[in-house]
Amino acid sequence: MTTTEMRPINENALSDTDHDIALDGGLRVATTRRVGRLNAASLRKVIEPDTDVVGALGSGQVFATELSVTADLDLELTEEQKVRLSREEIASVTVAGIRFEAILMSGFAEQVAHSSAIGDPRIIYMLHEIGEETRHSRLFLRLVDQLAPMAKNPADHGVANFLFRHVTRALIRRPATLCALVLAGEEIPDLLQKRLVEHPDTDPFLKSVNRYHRQEEARHLAYARMVLPELWEEASWVDRVTIRHLLPFIIRTMFDWMVHPGVFETVGLPGMATWRAVTDSRHQRDMRHQATRPVLAALVTSGVVPTGRVARAWRRLCGVDRFGQPVGS
Ligand SMILES: [Fe+2]
Ligand SMILES: [Fe+2]
Repeated sequence: MTTTEMRPINENALSDTDHDIALDGGLRVATTRRVGRLNAASLRKVIEPDTDVVGALGSGQVFATELSVTADLDLELTEEQKVRLSREEIASVTVAGIRFEAILMSGFAEQVAHSSAIGDPRIIYMLHEIGEETRHSRLFLRLVDQLAPMAKNPADHGVANFLFRHVTRALIRRPATLCALVLAGEEIPDLLQKRLVEHPDTDPFLKSVNRYHRQEEARHLAYARMVLPELWEEASWVDRVTIRHLLPFIIRTMFDWMVHPGVFETVGLPGMATWRAVTDSRHQRDMRHQATRPVLAALVTSGVVPTGRVARAWRRLCGVDRFGQPVGS
């Protein structure tokens, strides 16, 4: 299967009745067993980036212009501007990644703190994942330090920060919503990093950072997919409405702001106007569709989104019809 294709969205989906029976019966036991295997894998593959992912970025353009969010804008930039833009883009995405991982860790820590089954393999896995995320984040900080970004995020002010804090604090306390958000927060960078790793012109150190990150994120994605059905069973109506109707807007905002408008100002472009052109571009729309369709597929497979009744917000985010089939791309 190529990266532009996707599996039918209802593949392996359980009907509502099958789903309930499976959860009441063997699914929880099977999930416990599978989480146990993930724990063993995390234990076998501990990577310490300070000693295992050493090196530094070169001084030039860190990835090819065709991978830039501005790829479709026909910008005429000097070599110096291309170098600056590539470095600022990566710095912006990396800082967003550090913040996202902190939200995930806070949510997991909240679940550990309030668990009534503290010895459960899920708790052990969450602790593994927190450990892996803290190591990623230290490496990402090292990367940002080397990139020395100068861009100022225009959303870094009172009202936007107030909203960001409020929304993230609400998400952290809602395991099912957090789990669905984590799927998006890991699928989107995974696609970006895959494209960077596969391109011959990507900086070698950036490639090794992405290779290392994707390897551990694959387990995190597997865990989120494993536990989503049982979290959905326990989810409140607020969670259910949030995931089905509000989460696509949160994911869209997260996707669009990974490269914020201040990045474009560092190469002399108008920040907001360029950002708007980027968010409307075919390149970004295709990336968004490709990155979010696996998230929707996981929600359908988990019984979160009923087959044949994909809500409008998800259809717009992923570019699919109500059956989850791609449209318009
Ligand atoms: Fe990570
Ligand atoms: Fe992760």
